[in-house]
Amino acid sequence: MASLKAFVASVLLLLAAHGVGAQDYLQVNLNSGDSIRSAAKTVARNLMEYYKGDEPGQTIGILPGPPPQGPYYWWQAGAMFGTLIDYWHYTGDDTYNGETATAMVFQAEAPANSYMPRNWTASLGNDDQGFWGMAAMLAAEVGFPNPPKDQPQWLALAQAVFNTQAARWEHEDCAGGLHWQIPPTNGGYNYKNTVANVVFLNLAARLARYTKNETYAEWAEKAYDWTSGVGYIDKDYNVFDGGHVEANCTDINLVQFSANAAVLLHATASMYNHTNDQRWRARVQGLLNRTTEHFFPNGIMVERACELEDRVQCNVDQHSFKGYMHRALATVSVLAPFTRDDILPLLKTSAKGAMSSCLSDGTCGFRWNVGGYDGDAANGPAGQEMSALAALSTLLVDERFAAPLTNGTGGTSVGDPNAGGNTKELDELTPVTTGDRGGAGVLTAFLLASTVGCLVWISGPWGEA
Ligand SMILES: *[C@@H]1O[C@H](CO)[C@@H](O)[C@H](O)[C@H]1NC(C)=O
Ligand SMILES: *[C@@H]1O[C@H](CO)[C@@H](O)[C@H](O)[C@H]1NC(C)=O
Ligand SMILES: *[C@@H]1O[C@H](CO)[C@@H](O)[C@H](O)[C@H]1NC(C)=O
Ligand SMILES: *[C@@H]1O[C@H](CO)[C@@H](O)[C@H](O)[C@H]1NC(C)=O
Ligand SMILES: *[C@@H]1O[C@H](CO)[C@@H](O)[C@H](O)[C@H]1NC(C)=O
Ligand SMILES: *[C@@H]1O[C@H](CO)[C@@H](O)[C@H](O)[C@H]1NC(C)=O
Repeated sequence: MASLKAFVASVLLLLAAHGVGAQDYLQVNLNSGDSIRSAAKTVARNLMEYYKGDEPGQTIGILPGPPPQGPYYWWQAGAMFGTLIDYWHYTGDDTYNGETATAMVFQAEAPANSYMPRNWTASLGNDDQGFWGMAAMLAAEVGFPNPPKDQPQWLALAQAVFNTQAARWEHEDCAGGLHWQIPPTNGGYNYKNTVANVVFLNLAARLARYTKNETYAEWAEKAYDWTSGVGYIDKDYNVFDGGHVEANCTDINLVQFSANAAVLLHATASMYNHTNDQRWRARVQGLLNRTTEHFFPNGIMVERACELEDRVQCNVDQHSFKGYMHRALATVSVLAPFTRDDILPLLKTSAKGAMSSCLSDGTCGFRWNVGGYDGDAANGPAGQEMSALAALSTLLVDERFAAPLTNGTGGTSVGDPNAGGNTKELDELTPVTTGDRGGAGVLTAFLLASTVGCLVWISGPWGEA
């Protein structure tokens, strides 16, 4: 604890040095919907300063990157547009709807429209593709305005991602599962990781619920059984990072990132809502329990694998994870109403922490439990903004309570069960840019975590795609 005190002291010093006084912090009353909406608008505006895709000469739909051209990989923009779709859903502010729709359609890349754009081949993981797919699925579920008829539709985009991934399910290595990377020549192809598989599971579960087509539900069962069968989810509902095919996926990387748990928890709640099955209910309960315990010490979210007491070693990707957890939890509270009384107070204490890190111009920090802005701007900062925006806007889940739509309950997005069928697998394509990351050698960093127990672990894939 001494190190935390020292850290807090250094933050206060930093704040003093930068002349940040109480009056320079974002003022928000978390008991008032209007106050939340107004503060969220400020944070959203701050976030969108990092998006240049609407400026002349820039590429529509991406955040500046990939490294070294800018800090962000392609997937993070997909996650950002998902965040903005939720922002609209909860607050009703449609300021960014136009840019969001344009980006979502453009990055799907015609004619296949399956979120496998050639520009990003060299770092394209199933998880990267899947984060865009989950944003498209969300658009269908919240009734985000449909694109013109001659453009691809939200539901069909999610189905295209699902279909291309189901076709890549691989039976030999580790008796199933998706590889992390899509092109076999990419570094990291031999890693069969949790995120690739839980993102696929998430899409399958939500498509099952939305369309009532049981083929999707069968895939969701299969993806859960495999991920848990290889031990990436243990009996206490810890969610680990993945393993390699050379070891038959038994060399499990025990690091726990909140993005894996969040995407999985959301998936299980969708299946529970779809089936009303006690097995799925138990999974929701167990995952929520473990998530609360592990990621929310004292009710405020901490990305424990890399947000250590005395230092933060989270990369750009990891700086965006808290938002996915807050968004997932809000949705879980709706899909699995028995969790509501546990989730809503948790979202509130954690959002309160998040807001204590925000300056009046909407600049928010990464640490939410130090009582001020931490000045952590090096690894992002779009991720910090996305997370704060998510923490704030999801508080309106109470006021704006609405179950995700289905085809039978008001959803109007038009699907195509065969979407993505004309996608070329990426080994048939030549990458059109060379500015992307190199081989896998630089990607696996060994990190020493100085948390209780002095755990040694290998960093997960998130720095890499
Ligand atoms: C791919 O990159 C080129 C060159 O920067 C750009 O013109 C094009 O719009 C990009 N396509 C996508 C889908 O991002
Ligand atoms: C490889 O892992 C799978 C899944 O856990 C298991 O079913 C299979 O028996 C393992 N194969 C070997 C040779 O250990
Ligand atoms: C259900 O989904 C499967 C898998 O995508 C698809 O092959 C099948 O055509 C769908 N069935 C209907 C009735 O849409
Ligand atoms: C959840 O956690 C509580 C205590 O922390 C425990 O009593 C309960 O059995 C757990 N429930 C499940 C389903 O894991
Ligand atoms: C599914 O979600 C709806 C909306 O919150 C809820 O009314 C319904 O009870 C949920 N189903 C189950 C099985 O909990
Ligand atoms: C969705 O609903 C529409 C109209 O309510 C219906 O025409 C269509 O067949 C449904 N689609 C599926 C996949 O069930």
